[in-house]
Amino acid sequence: MRVARLDSETDFEGWRGHARALLCDRVPPEEVTWQVGRAQDTLFDILDAPAPPRDPDYRPRVSKRFLVDAKLALCHRDEERFGLLYRLLYRMQDNANLMSNAVDDDVIRLGALVKSVSRDRHKMRAFVRFRAVKGEPDTFVSWFEPEHRIVEENAPFFVRRFANMKWSILTPERSAHYDRRELQFGPGASQADAPDADALEDLWRTYYGAIFNPARLKVKAMGAEMPRKYWKNLPEAELIAPLIADARKLEAGMVEAAPTPPRRLADYAFAEPDLLPGDALAALRRDAAGCALCDHACHATGTVFGEGPPDATLMIVGEQPGDREDIAGRPFIGPAGDLLDAALQEAGLSRDALYLTNAVKHFRFTPRGKQRIHQSPKVSHIDHCRWWLKAERKLVRPRVTLAMGATAIRALAGRAIPVGTAREVGFDCFDGRAGLATFHPAAILRQPDTAEATMMREALVADLRRAKAMTGEDIVADFPANREV
Ligand code: URA
Repeated sequence: MRVARLDSETDFEGWRGHARALLCDRVPPEEVTWQVGRAQDTLFDILDAPAPPRDPDYRPRVSKRFLVDAKLALCHRDEERFGLLYRLLYRMQDNANLMSNAVDDDVIRLGALVKSVSRDRHKMRAFVRFRAVKGEPDTFVSWFEPEHRIVEENAPFFVRRFANMKWSILTPERSAHYDRRELQFGPGASQADAPDADALEDLWRTYYGAIFNPARLKVKAMGAEMPRKYWKNLPEAELIAPLIADARKLEAGMVEAAPTPPRRLADYAFAEPDLLPGDALAALRRDAAGCALCDHACHATGTVFGEGPPDATLMIVGEQPGDREDIAGRPFIGPAGDLLDAALQEAGLSRDALYLTNAVKHFRFTPRGKQRIHQSPKVSHIDHCRWWLKAERKLVRPRVTLAMGATAIRALAGRAIPVGTAREVGFDCFDGRAGLATFHPAAILRQPDTAEATMMREALVADLRRAKAMTGEDIVADFPANREV
């Protein structure tokens, strides 16, 4: 009998090393005992660290897919998992199609382990609720009780999702800590180590109450998606019973209520002179939050509306929010925003004094693995979203508008104009106001040629300076030739 010792319950590399050495010696699965942690006295032949395979060229037959599944399955609490995985690997050496055999007991068992861990991982992503730590800005702690040992497997997801926060996720067996630079793991904790309820929880309740649709209530499906065992740590869970109880009444009310027509552009401040532009902009922003004018709105986290003073003389228009903007709900706070901020500073402009918005208000992307890859908006998206841009412009009435990149030019001019041409001669916006153009900061960041990127960045600063100067000039006189574009 051979005893293979692993450092921890989820020691995938250790398991893999032992498995390779055992396979090389053709040790049958029933002759291996898997042990986690310190060695116990035993009469058997203990393999503390994985021994190098006797034949250094030995390569077991294994698919990438099996290794991915094995890594997940090791997070399961099933005591037999190490043995099951080794048995599968052992059998696979003589049966290349083993994993395709859907009625094989070992294959079925592995599938069940992977499914259970994947589900637990998904629930953790959905139900971790952070609470702010009093006196420590931007620091959050969450308490979660996973079914399996998924903290280390799942932590990188939270690093990507909450990259700007300092956070800890505490669980009974393991804790993960992230300080905006490094992810570290520590021992388990208790619920008392997490802070008490905070204002964030009111937000969760408000959000949950707002998205609850009584007409779509399916209690069974809700239970499957949000199992009861997670409720005790979810602030919004206390709303579930009263919302369900009131659902029938609310649904009847919705059926009886007269349909509310969507607001028209004319309903905002330009038609109601008593409404201050700031209030009208706030109303517009609220309405835009529910916009579903085009087909990609539903994939983004939310609408990223413009921001800035309602009487700004300069409006800067970008393309569409990126990944970071989509999550934060604010324009230009990611890498392109950092470049823009630096250029604004060089040009002597304050971001607080201008109105910054995008041609398209939702992030368009294609998922690739765990990443969301930017996709340019379609012309139909630009055209639909012009409704909001138009409304923003009617309220802000900027003296000068700077379009950054081709999408913004298309949105403002209503037709495609090459960036180079628009930079040189400017253009008329759809509402007759003066438009200038410049390079999009993201295009500068993407430019592989350093000299070209430097030239584009200098041009951006010069264009910003020019826009700033024009806010104080006689704009029409400044563009004798541009109407011919
Ligand atoms: N790029 C844009 O065009 N807009 C943003 O808000 C961010 C990146």
